[in-house]
Amino acid sequence: MKRVLRKQEEVHTGDLILVNREYGYREQETRLAAVGRDKNAEILFDYRAGILLNRLMAEINGWEQIVPVSGWRSLQEQKQIWADSLAENGSEFTLKYVAVPGHSEHQTGLAIDLGLKQAEIDFIRPDFPYEGICQTFREKAAAYGFVERYPAGRELVTRIGHEPWHFRYVGVPHAAIMTEKGLVLEEYIAFLRDYPYGNKPYMAQTPCGEIAVSFVKAEGAVTELKIDDTHPYAISGNNVDGFILTEWR
Ligand code: DAL
Ligand code: ZN
Repeated sequence: MKRVLRKQEEVHTGDLILVNREYGYREQETRLAAVGRDKNAEILFDYRAGILLNRLMAEINGWEQIVPVSGWRSLQEQKQIWADSLAENGSEFTLKYVAVPGHSEHQTGLAIDLGLKQAEIDFIRPDFPYEGICQTFREKAAAYGFVERYPAGRELVTRIGHEPWHFRYVGVPHAAIMTEKGLVLEEYIAFLRDYPYGNKPYMAQTPCGEIAVSFVKAEGAVTELKIDDTHPYAISGNNVDGFILTEWR
């Protein structure tokens, strides 16, 4: 068993951080890379998520018909988008489709808006229909670690309107669990509280075997975990009060 330590501030880092109206994003360094075919478009995305997105697109020949519309945004860009939308579209629309600056998943580098390649692309609400190549993408997304973050009917939970174009990287097996159970990230973070570290973890059956997921509440300045490091594991903050431990068994 290996002793693993996590500092309090690390609660706010990792692939599973919940960034929404309630929980803001703490600025941190992230490794980004250009994504999509047109490198001049300068759409940046978390480099690991970008590699997986490219693999998904390769499987379905997706970059033929799909373009990245918006990836990583600085706080300054989110402020500008917010201000422009307020002026152009008013506050009801803006609150529905633009996250309050400081509270956008786009600032994490883990979110991407995708649109059908066409002459006119709406920057805030690109077309990404539930048919054709976009639907094929959607159906494969979870296997690569992506979820449709703002589904229809969950607006009261996410506090964002239905956004068929916005995908969030959460990694595997989380994307598959969320998709199978129909949980948005707010609900998944809450769901995992029923699987506290040291008790029975949530066991996900995946194509690469069993994966255990549990919630570790942050305790004081440093949280200590004992992990069987003969197998792969990952730890992410939840951006609220603790960590999600993922262990390949
Ligand atoms: N459109 C999403 C909610 C954002 O601005 O982050
Ligand atoms: Zn988006």
